[in-house]
Amino acid sequence: MTIAFIGHGYVGLVTAAVFADLGNTVWVVGRTKEKIEKLKKGDPLIYEPGLTELVQRNIGAGRLHFTLDYKEAVAPSNVVFIAVGTPSKPNGEADLTSVFAAAEEIGKALVGYKVVVTKSTVPPGTGKKVSEIVNTFKPEGSSFAIASCPEFLREGTGLSDTMHPDRVVIGTNSDRARDILVELHKPIDGKNVLCNVETAELIKYASNSMLATKISFANAISFLAEKVGADVERVLEGVGLDKRIGRSFLYPGVGYGGSCFPKDVKALIAIAGEYGYDFSLLKAVHKVNNEARENFVAKMVRHFGSLKGKRIAVLGLAFKPDTDDMREAPSLDIIASLLDKGASVTVFDPIATEKAKLKLPKAVVYAKDAYEAAKDADAVAVITEWNEFRQLDLVRLAKGMKNLVLFDGRNIYEPAVVRNLGFMYYGIGRM
Ligand SMILES: NC(=O)c1ccc[n+]([C@@H]2O[C@H](COP(=O)([O-])OP(=O)(O)OC[C@H]3O[C@@H](n4cnc5c(N)ncnc54)[C@H](O)[C@@H]3O)[C@@H](O)[C@H]2O)c1
Repeated sequence: MTIAFIGHGYVGLVTAAVFADLGNTVWVVGRTKEKIEKLKKGDPLIYEPGLTELVQRNIGAGRLHFTLDYKEAVAPSNVVFIAVGTPSKPNGEADLTSVFAAAEEIGKALVGYKVVVTKSTVPPGTGKKVSEIVNTFKPEGSSFAIASCPEFLREGTGLSDTMHPDRVVIGTNSDRARDILVELHKPIDGKNVLCNVETAELIKYASNSMLATKISFANAISFLAEKVGADVERVLEGVGLDKRIGRSFLYPGVGYGGSCFPKDVKALIAIAGEYGYDFSLLKAVHKVNNEARENFVAKMVRHFGSLKGKRIAVLGLAFKPDTDDMREAPSLDIIASLLDKGASVTVFDPIATEKAKLKLPKAVVYAKDAYEAAKDADAVAVITEWNEFRQLDLVRLAKGMKNLVLFDGRNIYEPAVVRNLGFMYYGIGRM
């Protein structure tokens, strides 16, 4: 099949490259000439394990093409996926400006029959609006059907998530579009969920909100565990062994971040509000998430009395390991709070430093590795659980530090082991 993707971010490019690798001819549309030129040369512009090789292989095989021109991409395609960003507006609603702009351009470029699919995360009802826009701009004689195939890939494991998803959601009211999309997804081994457009749109928000709820629940239990003297890791192990509950996403820390959970939770609260439902459960999820960051900094303040003049080494900036994505990363709030309280901050992240520099205050100092970051530090704070931090040589780290204090925002160390090395250890929800 020939297909097109509008947008070449984490979702657009990963999915495009996987579909190309499955033998389809894939066109990717972008907005910026320099970026499209780099993509044509095989630079994916984002960090995602395995993506560079996949993009280069499929460009080489003549299956993956990049263009600024909607007509060049849409005309030969059977299916056009909209995979542009849907960030939060200040009031929490999803900003659909890019989706509607893409719909207009797709409409203008329409030839023959196409299936137009929203892959971006969009509120229920968006498919109808996209349909109206395409309909307004399409040339006479062309036709289309609307569908929603929300994406569930996780950054860091995007390629295998796309090939082996738990499910493939195909929402459309058109039998013809459904058959085309089922055919396209045949080599992908997830179970198909066939439904209407609004159902597909809501499945995505409900899924992300459920995962965010599990994280906030784990964090709320961690707050309580600290008060009652329990170990949250054992508590959640005991809880998660119940097959009805499971352990996944029941991990406490400094809260969820990234480009999806914060915005999707806020958007679902806003969507519910529009329909007259007060989603108080999700409002609490959002509140607990902020508390998780605040409690982490409060531990440092409690330990030192004041953070004025203290040097804190922050390990990990990306919102999670194996990505360079800094959107809504907990590190941003935590570092801002540390600086605000008079601390100086030295940071290290294995991959996200360049993107972090665009978002962090100028006062932050960047180190070339964890050991350099910890040099002369009063404390080390682990915020992202990169694997290389699990394997740190803590004896070497300790040698350069001024005070041996470790704030483990992801519970990646065994408290007893760290304490035996002379550190004061503070984890999340554990003594
Ligand atoms: N990142 C994830 O892990 C993830 C997972 C599942 C779903 N989603 C959803 O998928 C969507 C895309 O997310 P992302 O992380 O890939 O975003 P992103 O910001 O990485 O990429 C968005 C892309 O869209 C392009 N774009 C915007 N407007 C355009 C236009 N009019 N024409 C052409 N290109 C345009 C941008 O240039 C960029 O390449 C969002 O709705 C997001 O919620 C993201």
